[in-house]
Amino acid sequence: MADRDGIQEGKNFYLDQKSDNKSFHVKGMEHCDWGMKHRLSRIFNPESGRTVMLAFDHGYIMGATSGLERLDIAVPPLAEHADVLMATRGALRSCISPTFDKAVALRVSGGSTVLQDDMSLEYFMVNMQESLRMDAACIAIQTYIGSKNEAQTLRNLNEAVNQGNQYGIPVLGVVGVGKEMERTSKFFLTAVRTVAEMGAHIVKTYYCDDFEKIVAACPVPIVVAGGKKIPEKDALELAYNAISKGAAGVDMGRNVFQAEDPVAMIQAIRKVVHEGKTGEEAYKFYMETKKS
Ligand code: R5P
Repeated sequence: MADRDGIQEGKNFYLDQKSDNKSFHVKGMEHCDWGMKHRLSRIFNPESGRTVMLAFDHGYIMGATSGLERLDIAVPPLAEHADVLMATRGALRSCISPTFDKAVALRVSGGSTVLQDDMSLEYFMVNMQESLRMDAACIAIQTYIGSKNEAQTLRNLNEAVNQGNQYGIPVLGVVGVGKEMERTSKFFLTAVRTVAEMGAHIVKTYYCDDFEKIVAACPVPIVVAGGKKIPEKDALELAYNAISKGAAGVDMGRNVFQAEDPVAMIQAIRKVVHEGKTGEEAYKFYMETKKS
């Protein structure tokens, strides 16, 4: 049985050895079925192996947050520059035309809002029939590892994976951080690996120190959330650091839709993710492109 005491921390992550995908471009997914791979290929570009997800699911916790007050005005100009739209069913149905062909990462967990002190209690809310009806390329489930609701959120994740595997829908397991939870590389190493071993096909987490070790120890692709709004230059550096240390993409929200010029910002992020530009190069592009 695993013990809490006397844990020997991981030391050898073989950072000099890349994980080698031979027959499919998405890490750890070589043995999946056709439908699952077809959906994963809509998420991760087969050429670059990467993805730019636009997260605008914040309303399910935060309400009408800055930048997303009017979904119908804020989202459509950004959507064409994203590979994947990460949102709730309510947001998608209301502001994205079904004629618009982009992969959907459908937020299917929920249960707490910012009006609660502790937002870690979530349930698997949206059933699989509804996810299929929404043509989801993957479904997103929040976890709060280390919180008092850890077990509930891991149960949600496992149930989503059970059903996702049945229908060929990948599960994006989100590593949530509560206000009292640590944001150390030790925490992320545990949380990311737990989410992956529970069967998530993609893990979304935050960037942190020793990020390359977290990528190495995660058997499936990692996409990086942006977190709270920071200066555009710093957000592009964050994206570059994450990609250069092995992330398979970014899933950013506030650092896009709260940017001074959101459209220029998501275009600059694409430069980092799909074109191999540095943070500095992408920021130069942002400054040249943004409307004054
Ligand atoms: C996370 O729980 C939210 O659902 C967002 O999707 C996520 O935090 C990414 O957005 P941001 O880049 O604003 O952190």
